[in-house]
Amino acid sequence: MSNKVIITEVGLRDGLQNQPKLISTAHKLEMAKALIDAGVSHLEATSFVHPKLVPQMADAVDVLAGLKDLTQSCDNSNVNVSVLVPNMKGYQRAKENGVTSIGVVVASTDTFNLKNLNMTTDKAASVCQEIVAQAKQDGINTRVYISGACVCPYDGKTPVDITLGLSEKMVATGADEISISDTVGGGNPQQIIDILTPLVQQYGADRFNLHLHDTRGQALAMAWAGITLGVRRFDSSIGGLGGCPFAPGASGNVATEDLVYMLEEAGFDTGIQLSALKAAVTVSAQVTGQKLGGNIYQWMLSQEALLKNKAAQESPCI
Ligand code: COA
Ligand code: ZN
Repeated sequence: MSNKVIITEVGLRDGLQNQPKLISTAHKLEMAKALIDAGVSHLEATSFVHPKLVPQMADAVDVLAGLKDLTQSCDNSNVNVSVLVPNMKGYQRAKENGVTSIGVVVASTDTFNLKNLNMTTDKAASVCQEIVAQAKQDGINTRVYISGACVCPYDGKTPVDITLGLSEKMVATGADEISISDTVGGGNPQQIIDILTPLVQQYGADRFNLHLHDTRGQALAMAWAGITLGVRRFDSSIGGLGGCPFAPGASGNVATEDLVYMLEEAGFDTGIQLSALKAAVTVSAQVTGQKLGGNIYQWMLSQEALLKNKAAQESPCI
């Protein structure tokens, strides 16, 4: 089984969509540059959603244009940039702007879908189906998020059968990837095993991604449950940035630096330089004005302080 892991950094979209202070396009691109410099190869950059509902994503077109310049000038043309689209209008806007990978979303309950997309679950599922079919014709990569896969922010714990049924329906659309998403960070590792075991057996692990928020500190354990089943695709957010405006109680995704540390220490290859992620956390904290950083960021800071102390003790006194 491969030891390569693909991490999609979702800080620019999932991480920023709920920020109270409006983040400028230039600052978003500073974050993107720090992430790309650290070796991040997959970025979910923005979303084509209603700008009045999610003002942080209103500059989607400018972010994409800036990223195009950035990836060309950094000689990083292999960086895969994706966007989230909630409906056909969003898809058309993404396509007009040259996007090559999109994500669509369907949640596990009517309540969540209505709050998030103003659609019932059946409607959201059929919109996903239509967009995936169109994207396949257009040669665009597709991902379907199964949101609220473990817990719905309104209706509580999601029965495994609901998530399985929805996932199977979305696999049948022909989407390249299905992202099992613990949107509120209320799940546990056993749920991941219960959801993924039958899916992986039937469709193979390559088809699945895990998108895990870390509200209750379970995300790394859940990611590891995925690893043991062969899953090699994960989302994460720099410094643990994030939350969802339509999922009360959700905190950020699992911090990219925590996920990279765990995977690299366990012998997996993420292609991301842990030491360079420190700078990306610092930039993200500066532009958002938030105190950011998972456990590993704090650990890296303490290591740095120890080294400085040691150097100071060893240097001759004047
Ligand atoms: N981007 C921008 N504008 C859009 C749009 C899109 N993807 N989809 C619809 N609109 C506009 C329509 O053109 C229309 O504009 P008008 O009032 O000027 O005529 C207006 O929005 C209403 O259109 P409608 O199709 O009735 O949309 P809606 O009000 O039912 O909203 C969504 C549906 C999906 C656009 C909205 O719920 C949304 O943006 N949700 C995203 C939530 C999100 O980002 N969640 C976090 C990530 S999962
Ligand atoms: Zn999320």
